[in-house]
Amino acid sequence: VAASVVEIGGLKIAKEDVVRDDPTNNVPDAIFTKLGMQLHRRDKHPIGILKNAIYEYFDKNYSNKFEKFDNLCPIVSVKANFDDVLVPADHVSRSDNDTYYVDSQTVLRCHTSAHQAELLRRGCTHFLVTGDVYRRDSIDSTHYPVFHQMEGVHVFSPDDWGSSRVDATSYATQDLKACLEGAVEMRWVDTYFPFTNPSFELEIFFQEKWLEVLGCGVMEQEILKRSGKTDNSAWAFGLGLERLAMVLFDIPDIRLFWSTDERFTSQFAKGELGVKFKPFSKFPPCYKDMSFWISDSFTENNLCEVVRGIAGDLVEEVRLIDSFTNEKGMTSHCYRIAYRSMERSLTDEEINDLQNHGIVC
Ligand code: PHE
Repeated sequence: VAASVVEIGGLKIAKEDVVRDDPTNNVPDAIFTKLGMQLHRRDKHPIGILKNAIYEYFDKNYSNKFEKFDNLCPIVSVKANFDDVLVPADHVSRSDNDTYYVDSQTVLRCHTSAHQAELLRRGCTHFLVTGDVYRRDSIDSTHYPVFHQMEGVHVFSPDDWGSSRVDATSYATQDLKACLEGAVEMRWVDTYFPFTNPSFELEIFFQEKWLEVLGCGVMEQEILKRSGKTDNSAWAFGLGLERLAMVLFDIPDIRLFWSTDERFTSQFAKGELGVKFKPFSKFPPCYKDMSFWISDSFTENNLCEVVRGIAGDLVEEVRLIDSFTNEKGMTSHCYRIAYRSMERSLTDEEINDLQNHGIVC
């Protein structure tokens, strides 16, 4: 049973402050219970271990130390999350299909970039911000509605690039890539973010797939200018900690990070990198197919939220396996839901009960 008050960064937040009657509120109880868990602040948790290792990397490679923030409140204004980083008014990430709204002006941050502008305004020029971030999304082994990011920002002044023969943007691009190129098999992909230009994604190869672990780029001048920095250039990155931790520790499923099972937690007791996770036996999955007619307002994220609300962490994957449109233009979808417990074998009956109970509610 979840506590109805959580403490984050010295602030006490009651459930009613987050899960409310407000017409724009779409934060379910299951998400509220994740606030204040702060996996990234546990030294014996893979996410905390990874954070500490990256801190060390930055301390070793940069003489002027990066300032570190890991206790900034995840409940932020729409302005901080979107406007301050130049996300256009009609950008999809603002929709309530993608983002958790507490009310029309307040969200659960969907990225740690939500803190860029505030920290620049405070005068910070080198910083790392680590925290839990929240996104409505589909369900599979590498997606979970709560995950952890680390934001890095490095602001340069004319002195920095003046002695090199390249312009400010090329200088920041080169420094950024050199800073991040490292141990794992990886590739750079050009991409678009409203707040950086040029923008790149870093992908790593894992479980036969290229996985995006990091977005980055040279910060838009407009953001620096609005924070009172007119002569500077800067790079910024946002690193997804779960996915990198999955690769480094051989963790096969993103739900494991939330496990309190001793067979998981005890394996990281040393608080060190280099440990390979030894899976405890995988229990058999239970599959259920479900077809239904969809209306124009149907979205997969909404379906996943309903499934997660009923099944919690028993749901492993929700996958569209068939779609068909009849002569009248009506479309039906068939989804295959994979249920699997990390701790025990599930019975067909209990999953039927679970699904029927959900339908009755
Ligand atoms: N905020 C972006 C995301 O969450 C990542 C990013 C951070 C990209 C900083 C560029 C610069 O996807």
